Amino acid sequence: MSFLLAQSIECGLLLHLCFLLVSSQYCVPRKTVSYPSDLKLFREDGILHYSTMLIRDDLGVLLLGAREAIYALDINNISNKKAEVYWRVTEEKQRECTYKGKLAEVECRNYIRTLHSINDTTIYVCGTNAFSPTCDYMTFVNGQLTLKGRQEEGKGKCPFDPFQRYSSLMVAGNDLYSATSINFLGSEPVILRSSNLALRTEFKNSWLSEPYFVYMDFVGESVDSADGDDDKIYFFFSENAMEYDFYSKVVVSRVARVCKGDMGGQRTLQRKWTSFLKARLDCSFPEPSLPPIVQDVFLLKHKDWRKSIFYTIFTPQSGMSQMSAVCAYTVSSIRDVFNEGKFKTPAAVETSHVKWVMYTGEVPVPRPGACINNVARELGMNRSLELPDKTLQFIRDRPLMDEAVRPLTGAPLLLKKGALFTRIVVDRMSALDGEKYNVMFIGTENGFVQKAVNFDGEMFIIEEIQVHENQNPILTLRLSSSKGQLYAGSEFGVVQIPVSNCSRYESCVDCILSRDPYCAWDVSSARCSSAHSLSPEVAMQSLKEGNVSLCPPPDPGAVVNFALVPGNNIQLPCQLHSNLAQVHWRSSDRPVHSNNKYYIYSGGLLILNVTKADAGVYACDSVEQINSRIYNRTVVVYSLKLSPDKDVVVSTVTQISIQTLNTAATSPGLESEEPLLPENQSNTSRMSHLETAVALLSLLCLSLLGTIFWIWGRQHWKCFNCTLCSRSIKERKHNQNRTSDRKLLGSESGRPCSNNNNHCAVDFKRNGEYHFPPKANISNLDGLGYIRDESEI
Ligand SMILES: *[C@@H]1O[C@H](CO)[C@@H](O)[C@H](O)[C@H]1NC(C)=O
Ligand SMILES: *[C@@H]1O[C@H](CO)[C@@H](O)[C@H](O)[C@H]1NC(C)=O
Ligand SMILES: *[C@@H]1O[C@H](CO)[C@@H](O)[C@H](O)[C@H]1NC(C)=O
Ligand SMILES: *[C@@H]1O[C@H](CO)[C@@H](O)[C@H](O)[C@H]1NC(C)=O
Repeated sequence: MSFLLAQSIECGLLLHLCFLLVSSQYCVPRKTVSYPSDLKLFREDGILHYSTMLIRDDLGVLLLGAREAIYALDINNISNKKAEVYWRVTEEKQRECTYKGKLAEVECRNYIRTLHSINDTTIYVCGTNAFSPTCDYMTFVNGQLTLKGRQEEGKGKCPFDPFQRYSSLMVAGNDLYSATSINFLGSEPVILRSSNLALRTEFKNSWLSEPYFVYMDFVGESVDSADGDDDKIYFFFSENAMEYDFYSKVVVSRVARVCKGDMGGQRTLQRKWTSFLKARLDCSFPEPSLPPIVQDVFLLKHKDWRKSIFYTIFTPQSGMSQMSAVCAYTVSSIRDVFNEGKFKTPAAVETSHVKWVMYTGEVPVPRPGACINNVARELGMNRSLELPDKTLQFIRDRPLMDEAVRPLTGAPLLLKKGALFTRIVVDRMSALDGEKYNVMFIGTENGFVQKAVNFDGEMFIIEEIQVHENQNPILTLRLSSSKGQLYAGSEFGVVQIPVSNCSRYESCVDCILSRDPYCAWDVSSARCSSAHSLSPEVAMQSLKEGNVSLCPPPDPGAVVNFALVPGNNIQLPCQLHSNLAQVHWRSSDRPVHSNNKYYIYSGGLLILNVTKADAGVYACDSVEQINSRIYNRTVVVYSLKLSPDKDVVVSTVTQISIQTLNTAATSPGLESEEPLLPENQSNTSRMSHLETAVALLSLLCLSLLGTIFWIWGRQHWKCFNCTLCSRSIKERKHNQNRTSDRKLLGSESGRPCSNNNNHCAVDFKRNGEYHFPPKANISNLDGLGYIRDESEI
């Protein structure tokens, strides 16, 4: 046993070394905030599916659509309901729906899926209405929500199926753009504009092939346009690829767009888009894989629309890997592909076999798919109705661009393993250094919000906050930048959280190391406060560096006294402030390691079978690395004394009184967790499991040691794949401390983070050199029968 323990010490050291090596590239959230008790929450009995939201800053309300109900909630405190209106299905509708084979109590209800502002007082509402989509007008006046009863056909504006993803957008309070299926079976996809002049997509596989619509937004490209261009509506979705041959279906992510002024064609493309163009979205994962799938998008608007950025979330196409990515695309890069890129064209390669390849022939003028711009006007064409058949026929048959749209900086801005990302919003804010930071808030499948920033290529997850109690997936995420609030909806309710809560950071060091652009250390009041409320003279922030050297020397803190009773076990709690920190214990300035006497677990130190000789001072240090700096600080100091006296906090622990100890021994600000005492285990077979685990771990560590030194020798350890290492850290924590499971759930494995400048998808299997992922997915997909252009046939 003692050999095994010695091994485990060695292993601990190795793991620590390993951790220090990779900790400059992390995708582990620095802080995990478990479900806060003071969360502002809204839900109502019997109402489900809180998935549709419309923020009305002007009215001071968040409009919320759920199943058969619409609410107006106070935007500052959503627990405060201002008004509600119910829109239930009629019995007749429900009966019709069940006749068609749908479930009465699930699908045959009215799910509110659309809420758009028409003008200051009127809102357009659509619901699935028992698989018979219907829209209506609603007003919010004098604190009252009222449905006007002016019901309209909702087919094509709102899905039939309450659970099918779709997207819609109201432009100028008049034109409703929607991307959904237009039939009961969900088999006829459409991108539709409902207005005085309704337009839609051609029902052809080359236009849309089993699409999964996620997002759309408007970009006012006519502003300051040198070529007299029109405004655009951009769509994001995934669909079956037509450009690859593969043994099974391959899905690809797309961005598409249409022009706002499109009026359709005269003979060709009558009442259809003449400006529908689409391109593949490229976001490459480090590991070779099928193209990832776009799940959500957020348009971060900029005064100059060319600099507006679409932030997108991607998850894998195949269910095997639990990895998510954020890729960002500038409007101008997407626009370049559509305005200047080459087209793809179908070509017969063998009899009855069609491949999509680059079109190398002559492109008609005006350019197919272009909006009416100065070029067209000079040719006497003021409306799309006047476009020549040649241009229209070209675009009807070839809506796909040859080139893919590349992400900003060429690579994902964030890669994280663990619960998949579901939704994203981004806030652009000015920090004290005068720079603007784009802070990403990402909802996950297990009810967490990840708050992340990219500091010049270094990805950093500031914190993750659990917002849904039962780990329900986040279905909707909205941001009110002006109020500094986030709203996250799930099946069972909506929660509101502030974009930051600086008071969670208690010390100057913690405040600075959080690297939260919203927070700064207020020197005058010695508190971590909201940065925008502070004047730069009294505020300290170090976002890119995480430099704490300006902080006052930390308060040594009171020594916590412990009474020592020989023969018992003692637990000394120590909770670190950061998931990225490692714990070090000292006793009378000598390091303490786990052995048959001491047992270090994530929540503290356990001293087994204490004797008089164990009296003395025990200190718990936290070691955290930010960039290349290492910060060492003492979290808590205990003094163990033999003679118990009255003001001692607590005495010793025995097997039966662990629970008591846990509550009593917690010093202020520290949370204690129950260690998995060897003695605590009821049977010996468990014990031998532990030994086996330790032995296996030791073996693992030895091989790890080899790897580390080998890598070290090659001086290539700056950025290596240490999944194995971090996994063993995690498993070790699990083995030692079961109660930490909850905390670890959100943080997942410590996979090193990708870096913009230094993309670290590394394969060390072959020769120790980095293997950067191919620049574009195209080369990943060579095996899928990709042909670049017609000349290759
Ligand atoms: C929010 O509103 C609820 C219900 O009106 C109230 O109980 C709660 O105290 C409010 N919370 C805050 C922080 O104002
Ligand atoms: C708002 O729009 C509705 C529906 O089109 C219309 O009936 C109403 O008069 C409009 N109100 C204002 C103030 O423009
Ligand atoms: C197009 O518009 C211009 C100015 O608005 C006008 O002079 C011209 O006659 C129009 N052309 C056609 C073909 O309608
Ligand atoms: C911020 O966090 C502190 C400490 O956890 C808590 O007491 C406070 O209520 C939180 N404030 C808000 C606005 O959530």
